Amino acid sequence: MSADAKKLEAEILAAIDAADDAAALEAVRVGALGKKGSVSALLKTLGGMSPEERQINGPLFNVLRDTIAAAIGAKKTTLEAAALTARLAEETLDMTLPVHADAQFEGRIHPVSQVMEEVAAIFADMGFDVAEGPDIESQFYNFTALNIPEAHPARQMHDTFYMQAEEDGEPLVLRTHTSPVQVRTMMEGQAEKSGPPFRFIAPGRTYRCDSDQTHTPMFHQVEGLVVDETTHMGHLKHTLEAFLAAFFEVENIAIRFRPSYFPFTEPSMEIDMQCHRDGDKLVVGAGDEWMEIGGSGMVNPHVLRHAGIDADKYQGFAFGMGIDRLAMLKYGAPDLRAFFEADLRWLKHYGFVPIDVPGLAGGLSNKSLTTLTSAK
Ligand code: PHE
Repeated sequence: MSADAKKLEAEILAAIDAADDAAALEAVRVGALGKKGSVSALLKTLGGMSPEERQINGPLFNVLRDTIAAAIGAKKTTLEAAALTARLAEETLDMTLPVHADAQFEGRIHPVSQVMEEVAAIFADMGFDVAEGPDIESQFYNFTALNIPEAHPARQMHDTFYMQAEEDGEPLVLRTHTSPVQVRTMMEGQAEKSGPPFRFIAPGRTYRCDSDQTHTPMFHQVEGLVVDETTHMGHLKHTLEAFLAAFFEVENIAIRFRPSYFPFTEPSMEIDMQCHRDGDKLVVGAGDEWMEIGGSGMVNPHVLRHAGIDADKYQGFAFGMGIDRLAMLKYGAPDLRAFFEADLRWLKHYGFVPIDVPGLAGGLSNKSLTTLTSAK
């Protein structure tokens, strides 16, 4: 290589070495390899050379250009790595810092969530699974498969919200109850050969066009379903009594069945639970008054058949209870509408401390907000 080219190479390599940030390195690159850069200028001199000179110098200059480009690339990588290391050091976050002392008292679990957890814990202890279904439901699952044919008055009875979107030529609905989950779960169980027998609850949101002190357009239900070869009404009654006693944390609680009608159960019964009033307070499990807390019955064989189950072999019971109602009764909130107004003052008063997961072992509600804040 000519002496000039050697010197140029040494100079540029030194400059690359000295560049201590991306901008400086870029300046070196432009000065050498840019359109008007020194290496580019050298390459241009090839045009004025004789063929012999060009044959010697051409490869040499090209090697020079490649050497410089490679050195710049290597330096760039080094600078980037250094920048990243510096940034990581600067932005260190000490994850071991303690949260402030009362953080666990800040947030609140909504009473509906609390009650859903309690309900699930109690039924899980009795061997029930938890099933789910969609809020936006087809009329097939919400009505038809539950033995509520088209034009049946029960479709009006439910004050249904109809959607614009359709499925199979019929408007979808916001489910009016959790009973469609009965059908969905039984069909799934059939398909996966995981049942019958079935034993599950299905808690979730439900919707009806209704609003007053004890009704909101969106509310919560918990469905229960047991299907087996010998399931009978005695099982239903015991299940409900055991659930209510555990939920209200009393020794015993009497329930009463009142004849009723649901297209998907036969016979059908309203569930009343024993209670009485002590001044403003509602006391459950004692007294001679009754309060309705849900509907129930023996699963109508039509529903079993809709789900593909042999109704000559299997029978079962179903029930549906209002979760919000249970929450109001247990925790004494008088107005259902306040449940869904997202008022922080209300939530602070009626809500639960998040670190306390309800369970049968640790007690369900005895670690309520009052106990905890007074212990504070
Ligand atoms: N789905 C009924 C309702 O919402 C309640 C119910 C469920 C009744 C299961 C009987 C059996 O009114």
